Amino acid sequence: MFTIVKKMNLSHDVYWMDIDAPYIARKAQPGQFVILRTGRMGERIPLTIADSDREAGTISLVFQEVGKSTMLMGALKQGDNLDDVVGPLGLPSHIEKLGLVVIVGGGIGIAPVHPIARGFKEAGSKVISILGARSKDLLIMEDEMVKASTEVKVCTDDGSYGQQGFVTNVLEGLIEEGSPIDMVVAIGPVPMMAAVSKLTKPYGIKTMVSLNPIMVDGTGMCGACRVTVGGKIKFACVDGPDFDGHEVDFAELRLRQRMYLSEERDAIETLTYVSE
Ligand SMILES: Cc1cc2nc3c(=O)[nH]c(=O)nc-3n(C[C@H](O)[C@H](O)[C@H](O)COP(=O)(O)OP(=O)(O)OC[C@H]3O[C@@H](n4cnc5c(N)ncnc54)[C@H](O)[C@@H]3O)c2cc1C
Ligand code: FES
Repeated sequence: MFTIVKKMNLSHDVYWMDIDAPYIARKAQPGQFVILRTGRMGERIPLTIADSDREAGTISLVFQEVGKSTMLMGALKQGDNLDDVVGPLGLPSHIEKLGLVVIVGGGIGIAPVHPIARGFKEAGSKVISILGARSKDLLIMEDEMVKASTEVKVCTDDGSYGQQGFVTNVLEGLIEEGSPIDMVVAIGPVPMMAAVSKLTKPYGIKTMVSLNPIMVDGTGMCGACRVTVGGKIKFACVDGPDFDGHEVDFAELRLRQRMYLSEERDAIETLTYVSE
């Protein structure tokens, strides 16, 4: 049993949860994730380890309610238990001391970039983080990112906070200013990661993205998380989730993510029916 020791609402459908999981907390590294189930018959959902506390024996997960399983998880309270939490899974992000690393987090993607930003800063790199959200009320973890970065730039689609525009506008500004960027790390919706990779490619700026295909076992056995990178088949759970953004077939990733769209819609309808 994995007890929820803390639950907070970060924005209207985004939650932060600290889970008692001492063995995972002891080993977790930036970029890694867990696969959990809310109940014995529950679906297995992957969530990035947004933070971990070895002393307290807890891991922090930040998730957005997008479908049945994340809604069931959102309904859990402090003191409730999760049936299974397996991890840490995936390869840790490659972190080293570089001159300047630009970290780009879009929407819920700010949670998984948080430990990566902190890792680069602790390694001695200058870290400029660009945080993007549709509007001010949807921006999460700004204070945590300020601590994890040398400098933070915020933008919102509607201009309600920070610079108006997309994260790519802010990144383009930095590139045009001549900032000597050694690496960009971008995590967020697939179209955002694709746009960041397209922007940096002509400049030859190394760009890492974290892919979120559908996953089932998380151990490289089921094949659900197949992605194409540099023309080769990779499994995001064991070969990633971080990959070179200039090599990723984002169009295929988007198609594969939508494979179970009608089943996902049915699942939400059943959930609404049962709870009425
Ligand atoms: C390595 C990894 C890390 C992730 N980290 C986070 C995170 O930190 N915070 C967060 O909010 N979300 C994260 N996700 C996405 C999260 O796993 C999905 O939002 C969740 O599984 C949706 O389940 P659902 O039943 O609520 O929605 P569904 O209605 O089942 O699906 C909604 C969307 O989620 C995708 N999805 C569904 N099941 C899975 C699955 N088993 N694996 C991956 N995607 C799935 C679907 O393709 C669809 O786009 C991560 C995904 C991966 C692969
Ligand atoms: S989730 Fe099964 S192979 Fe990656």
